[in-house]
Amino acid sequence: MTTLTLVLGGTGKTGRRLVQRLTALDQPVRIGSRSGGLPFDWEDPATWAPALTGVKAAYVSYYPDLAAPGAPEAIGSFAEMAANSGTRRLVMLSGRGEDEAVACEKALADSGADWTVLRCSWFDQNFSDSFLLGPVLSGHVVLPAAAVGEPFVDADDIADVAATVLTQAGHTGQTYELTGPRLLTFADAVAEIAAATGRPIDYAAVPAADYAEAMAAEGVPADVIELLTYLFSTVLDGRNAQLGDGIHQVLGRTARDFADYAGDAAATGIWNQQ
Ligand SMILES: NC(=O)c1ccc[n+]([C@@H]2O[C@H](COP(=O)([O-])OP(=O)(O)OC[C@H]3O[C@@H](n4cnc5c(N)ncnc54)[C@H](OP(=O)(O)O)[C@@H]3O)[C@@H](O)[C@H]2O)c1
Repeated sequence: MTTLTLVLGGTGKTGRRLVQRLTALDQPVRIGSRSGGLPFDWEDPATWAPALTGVKAAYVSYYPDLAAPGAPEAIGSFAEMAANSGTRRLVMLSGRGEDEAVACEKALADSGADWTVLRCSWFDQNFSDSFLLGPVLSGHVVLPAAAVGEPFVDADDIADVAATVLTQAGHTGQTYELTGPRLLTFADAVAEIAAATGRPIDYAAVPAADYAEAMAAEGVPADVIELLTYLFSTVLDGRNAQLGDGIHQVLGRTARDFADYAGDAAATGIWNQQ
């Protein structure tokens, strides 16, 4: 059976990969983002109903972050509108070890939708498709993250899980913990990237206040600095230093290792730009 699926953040790290998978399965897809097929903006609820028209299932990737002020309210309102307009199947991208993400998950469940939660660790692709690309290219990665293990997860694995739970029965009401297969510190991850590229890239951990000051000097907006320092200091305090088994539960295979991600990303040339 084909089902029109709305993929929020369908041009982002996980959404783009999910769109590729659903399309390969001959499932019709509508991208929901500000620049996607039909404009969808979390900050403009008037765009939500048109994006939901004729849709039976949706992948809910919130932006900018589940820890941002107003996220649970926006997700709750969207999920309620979706469930009431016939989009009963909602799969939400969530984070691990965050009270704010749990509040978003609760808002999703309270909507009455047939929900599934994908509670993910930090994405590998933050180093290549996101805010850590610049530091990697500069050869110096400086973050307020101490020597705490994080089971970085590959966005390709998240997309495989999302495509499976959206197209196969038996996943409603489930929360899956999606992590990579081993714990790495940020220094370990940067060392893996350096090995994959053959270039020296160093890593330094700094106090959160120093990091915030350096970001402000670069002109990064205050709300983004606040969010990043919060995430680094709260989520990376050791609470998430354990593996989850959601990828094996859903896909019946092990998660992709960070070294494989680093090798494949290096081969694309993304880390060789001047
Ligand atoms: N990154 C991680 O390591 C991580 C880990 C766990 C959970 N998460 C959660 O994953 C979610 C996505 O984060 P991400 O870092 O992976 O981002 P991302 O999906 O790569 O973000 C970009 C996407 O969001 C869309 N977008 C930007 N502003 C929007 C707006 N106002 N309304 C609607 N769509 C908008 C963009 O498209 P347009 O520019 O076309 O709008 C693009 O499709 C967040 O809720 C975060 O809390 C992230």
